Amino acid sequence: MVKLLVTGAAGYLGRAVAERGAADGWEVVGTHHRHAPSGVRSFALDVRDAGAVAALVLAEAPAAVIHTAYRQHGEAARAVNVDGAAHVAAAAHAAGARLVHVSSDAIFAGVAGRPLREEDPPDPVTPYGATKADAEPAVLAAHPGAVLARTSLIYGGPGVEPSPHEELALAAARGEREVAFFTDEVRSPVQVGDLATALVELAGMTTDAGPLHVGGADPVSRLEFARLIVAARGDDQHRIALVGGPAPPGRPRHCPLDSSRAQRLLHVRLRGVREVLQPRSPG
Ligand SMILES: NC(=O)c1ccc[n+]([C@@H]2O[C@H](COP(=O)([O-])OP(=O)(O)OC[C@H]3O[C@@H](n4cnc5c(N)ncnc54)[C@H](OP(=O)(O)O)[C@@H]3O)[C@@H](O)[C@H]2O)c1
Repeated sequence: MVKLLVTGAAGYLGRAVAERGAADGWEVVGTHHRHAPSGVRSFALDVRDAGAVAALVLAEAPAAVIHTAYRQHGEAARAVNVDGAAHVAAAAHAAGARLVHVSSDAIFAGVAGRPLREEDPPDPVTPYGATKADAEPAVLAAHPGAVLARTSLIYGGPGVEPSPHEELALAAARGEREVAFFTDEVRSPVQVGDLATALVELAGMTTDAGPLHVGGADPVSRLEFARLIVAARGDDQHRIALVGGPAPPGRPRHCPLDSSRAQRLLHVRLRGVREVLQPRSPG
């Protein structure tokens, strides 16, 4: 069996990637930070520790690495997202492993007024987006053959564990959280299984390198996304109408990803959120 190493294997995306990799016949090993995942052999690893990353990747000698580990907030975000990603890239390169680095649509401000293509220059407006944007050249410098898979809001949908985005919309619809979902921030939500399959496919290819947009097919506002999430649950307890409002300054705006290149390259269909989150009747 060919070995696949998944960083962040206890995270929302990492768990799905590890599962997909195993289902597709890879020998999957994971890395985790504070909490170990179940169902996959996993090593505790802080990606900020360059020596530990190099030693683990060299010892495991995977054919491919999918790097999902990151931190969205806090002081550690830059060290994890930029330095950590560069450590993983250098270690994968030294081991001769293919690398799929998970990046984000948050690297864009979304001022072009059209779907964003791989050639569009990053212009992040949030501190998190800046770390993901700075990670990309650092990863490519360490591993010129790396794929930078830029993705969007990740969700599970029917029969799948809800992602934090879904949890938030459902809590708001139960009246437990007061949230104004942005009406003017547009993204390309992607189903976690579709995305995991795409990343595992990319791990098994040898040709493509550089940025690749891997989002779902339907661009929607944050408010429409939240409404689709709630409608798809069709649950009696979710009765509060969701409220929309403009995003405050300093938020990304129109950031749908043009994923046509990925769609031509991959077997998996990157379904739109309106297709996946079909409304269910309550009861
Ligand atoms: N979620 C989205 O909607 C979204 C949108 C666009 C792009 N992305 C990208 O998708 C990737 C995965 O997102 P996700 O939602 O699956 O994230 P997640 O559930 O928060 O998982 C991230 C994992 O990274 C681990 N981690 C944090 N600090 C670490 C460190 N210093 N060393 C090693 N591991 C560390 C965390 O472990 P601990 O919790 O144990 O610290 C966690 O299990 C990220 O690269 C993110 O930028 C996500």
